[in-house]
Amino acid sequence: MYKGILHTHYLVVVLFLLIYVIKTVLLLSNKTDLLQNFTKKVKVPEMIISFLFLGTGVYLMTQLPFGGKYDHLFWIKIGMVLASIPIAVIGFKKQNKILAALSLLLITGSFGLAEVYHKKKGVAKDDAVADSTTPKGLYEKNCKLCHGDDGKLGAAGAKDLTATTLDVNAIKDIILHGKNSMAPVAVTDEQAALIAAYVQSDLKGH
Ligand code: HEC
Repeated sequence: MYKGILHTHYLVVVLFLLIYVIKTVLLLSNKTDLLQNFTKKVKVPEMIISFLFLGTGVYLMTQLPFGGKYDHLFWIKIGMVLASIPIAVIGFKKQNKILAALSLLLITGSFGLAEVYHKKKGVAKDDAVADSTTPKGLYEKNCKLCHGDDGKLGAAGAKDLTATTLDVNAIKDIILHGKNSMAPVAVTDEQAALIAAYVQSDLKGH
């Protein structure tokens, strides 16, 4: 679902940009008749594209993990998109080349900014891949089900990890080889070490 919407969003953004570029080029080269013709022809597709652009954008926004240090990039992007709309409407209506070019600049700029934002966050393109590479992400993926977010859950007879007296090596050993009713967890040696360190420093004693 998320990936499908993301791909749709990319596609409509590209189509949206394409229509914009063509319109701006026609306006800048004084091909007013062609511009009017083109505008008329793409009116309905453009409406559908704008609607999809907005709808997929709002959905994706609700899926973003806010609270990171790059949030401002995202808000600048949204600001640029929102500013470009009235500028474009006025620019094309009054056939004002400066405004039309400015709105195109804003919308392409916001596209570039979105790329930077997603690269920095390392999300969105591939369902938060970054998650399974951090100790916390690894813990959540492999342990949370039985031990809970904070280690205290104790589902299926699991032990409270905040109260364990085991050291980091013993924890790693249990992750890799299991203990009584806890089956071994399918992670690599390095991943087990990361998770054990996470349990030791972030969960124990809290
Ligand atoms: C399917 C449920 C389940 C999952 C998933 C699971 N555990 Fe456990 N865990 C248990 C159970 C049950 C015990 C109690 C074993 C026993 O009888 O001593 C346990 C015990 C432990 C203990 C021993 C605590 C003590 O003081 O004796 C540690 C450490 C531990 N788990 C860490 C982890 C970590 C880290 C992960 C993720 C990599 C994980 N577990 C995933 C069920 C689970």
